[in-house]
Formats: sequence, structure tokens, C-alpha cells
Amino acid sequence: MEQPHKVRTGIPGFDSIISGGFRQGRTIVLSGTPGSGKTTFGMQFLYYGAKDFDEPGVFVTLSQSPKEIRNGFESFGWNVQKLIDDDKLIIIDARPFKMEDGFISLDESLYRGENLPFMHLTQLILSSLKRINAKRLVIDSLTVLAMQYTNYFYIRQGLQGMVYALEDQHCTSLLISENIGDEKIPAEWHVASGIVLLHHIRKEDTMERAIQVIKMRGTRHGEQIFPIKLSESGLQIMHPRLVP
Ligand SMILES: Nc1ncnc2c1ncn2[C@@H]1O[C@H](COP(=O)(O)OP(=O)(O)OP(=O)(O)O)[C@@H](O)[C@H]1O
Ligand SMILES: [Mg+2]
Repeated sequence: MEQPHKVRTGIPGFDSIISGGFRQGRTIVLSGTPGSGKTTFGMQFLYYGAKDFDEPGVFVTLSQSPKEIRNGFESFGWNVQKLIDDDKLIIIDARPFKMEDGFISLDESLYRGENLPFMHLTQLILSSLKRINAKRLVIDSLTVLAMQYTNYFYIRQGLQGMVYALEDQHCTSLLISENIGDEKIPAEWHVASGIVLLHHIRKEDTMERAIQVIKMRGTRHGEQIFPIKLSESGLQIMHPRLVP
């Protein structure tokens, strides 16, 4: 049987935990508490994808400003401007408000009411993917989008439609999900084909970081919780073990 194409993540040590990388065209949820490294993981996935694996990427921000995201890339020494100039990276500002002349208002162009945000965003994403022939996508965060809805069915429907459209483009997508520890499992956890969890937990008088793969459809993956380091060069797994 032909082996599926594996998408290398650019996170040192992580690919060996998931049998070589993400499966191309799949949608993966990346979840964790505040400050656990979700945005960094997303930026690193796009940076190394574009630089080392010739896979351009799109970063959709719904929370931080594009400037903050650019500064984030640069704080790790990743030359984001070059990627943008070379059409290897697009940062889309999809925050649900806009600032004009010092005033903050609702962005009516994208958020016009229930059941529309996913459709609008999907169209915006698809045109950006096509423009630079992107193969990777990060949405930071999906939670902000889902907050627009009061009806769970509309979230599920919009999300499912978006995931089908992305898979149709063979785009490997990371959906950042802020929900953790809630009683209700967010819709994206069910719809995505993989879930990666970032932990940031207290140990005695310090905080430690770790990563865990909850599910990865069609892939053998490590079940352990692996310690990770978040330093000035980005995220790395400390003691990766090969999946037996
Ligand atoms: N350039 C850097 N060098 C070293 N560590 C950094 C650097 N930039 C960020 N960090 C660390 O990463 C943490 C934040 O990571 P990140 O923004 O990826 O988390 P997050 O899970 O996206 O958080 P949030 O829920 O607030 O969006 C910081 O609190 C800091 O500890
Ligand atoms: Mg973040």
C-alpha cells in the first residue's frame, strides 16, 4: 500500500512521535491553556514549512494583531518579511472588530450574523491559499470564531464545510482551540482528524511544558506526555521516543 505523504512539522522531535509528520491535507486541532505555546507552534509550523519544505502557508489571526504576530515570528529570529515578500506567507487579519481613526467597531464585512462567519472566512482563506499555492494553514483561534454562534449546529455545519474545503485543497491545517478543561468538548475536537494538546503546568516552584497527542486518525502515535522546551529558538521536544 502506498504510504501517505507526511508533512514535517518543523518542531524538532515531534515528527517521530506521529510516525513522520501530519498526513497531508488533514486538519489538526492544537489546544492548550493560555501561554502554553499554541501560537508559537503555529508560527513554527508555517515558518519551517515555507523555508525548508517549500510549502507556503497562511496564518489567520482572530486574536492578536498582524503586527504582534510578525513581532512574534521575529522574536524567534524567523525572517517573516522575506517569506511575505517571496509569497511564501500571508497573514490574514480576521479579528471580529476593526480600528479606524482610533475607534473600535464591529467588522461587518466578515461578521454579519449567525451562520455566516465560517462561510466568509472560508472564502477569504481559499482565495489566499490559491494566491500563493499554500499547503499549510493556521487559524488562531477557532474559539473566537465559534463564540459568534449561539446555535451549536451552525458551528458544526460551518466548521465541517470549512474542513472539507481545506482538505479539498490538500492543505494541512492547524486549528488553534482555546477550550480546555471545559465540560463541553468543542466542535473542532470532533471534526478534526487529529488533536495535539500543549500543557503548561506547575511543578513545585516552577512551570513545566509538555505535549501530548490525543488522536491522529490513520497514524500510529506516541501515547506519552512528552516534556517540551520553549526557548528563543522555538519549541522542541526534549526526549522524543520513536513510536514502536
Ligand atoms: N522569543 C521568545 N523566546 C523565548 N520564549 C518565548 C518567546 N516568545 C514567547 N515565548 C514564551 O512563549 C509563551 C507564549 O507562547 P504563545 O504565545 O505561543 O502561547 P499561546 O498558547 O498562544 O498563548 P495565548 O493563549 O495567550 O494565545 C510566553 O509566555 C513565553 O514564555
Ligand atoms: Mg496564542
